[in-house]
Amino acid sequence: MCRRSACTATTPPTASSAGVVTQNNADMRALARLSRSELHAHARHYFKTGGRTEPEVALVVYGGAQAILKDYARTPGWFGRLIAPILIWREYSALVRLAGLEGVPSLHRRLDARGLLMEYLPARPWPSADAPDAAYARLRTLVDAMHRRGIAHCDLRAAGNMLVDDQGRPYIVDFVARVQRGARWNLPWNWLYRQFVRADESALAKLRVRYAPHLATAADRQTLSTQGPLERIARAIGENTRSLLRYFVRSR
Ligand SMILES: Nc1ncnc2c1ncn2[C@@H]1O[C@H](COP(=O)(O)OP(=O)(O)O)[C@@H](O)[C@H]1O
Ligand SMILES: [Mg+2]
Repeated sequence: MCRRSACTATTPPTASSAGVVTQNNADMRALARLSRSELHAHARHYFKTGGRTEPEVALVVYGGAQAILKDYARTPGWFGRLIAPILIWREYSALVRLAGLEGVPSLHRRLDARGLLMEYLPARPWPSADAPDAAYARLRTLVDAMHRRGIAHCDLRAAGNMLVDDQGRPYIVDFVARVQRGARWNLPWNWLYRQFVRADESALAKLRVRYAPHLATAADRQTLSTQGPLERIARAIGENTRSLLRYFVRSR
């Protein structure tokens, strides 16, 4: 199920390693079929432990296979019942639309309305990774490819949604805030979509200014100081969705 070597040995199969690869593939197939409680039982590490408006994000290890479980099933109250299925559906549909794009986790399975199982990316969040210069250009290429597929991420200002591995390969996760390009005839929507694309681009400018200032151009700095009203809205969607929801949760 995994496109890359994340779930199997990193070297090409040889006579001696072919058995290991076969076993890991079998483990991956078994992992993808585990129930929710079995997946949690095999969680090796929680990137997020969940909360009233947040999912649990777990690295699940089963034999030689690994995957990420994003799960709102234990999120309590109306948020878990009503909002979580919308967020999971948004992420699910984005992963389907981006299937096969190198740098985006492939989808293993939607458990149900509140949980997703996806490819584990062996990489670290941008803020803690000390990404090499070349990774910034590769990230730009990846974001452009995502936009060509018709997805604006809308939450790239949260730098933890971009990962980078030891070889400087960039990855993007967390598509709950995404906006999809509309049908060709839907000009107003597609105009709006382009504003969200620009918001993603300005998030990359912010990333360069913050983590690689030597790569930041005058245009990057200018972009940050001259955001249009819609870019601010896009930014607000990404950054404030949860704070807004938290506010409503508190004020029940
Ligand atoms: N497919 C993945 N591979 C590796 N790590 C991941 C993956 N998905 C998420 N993570 C890690 O979990 C963290 C939280 O996941 P994310 O989807 O951003 O949750 P949230 O929607 O709550 O922000 C990410 O910042 C990243 O460190
Ligand atoms: Mg996130």
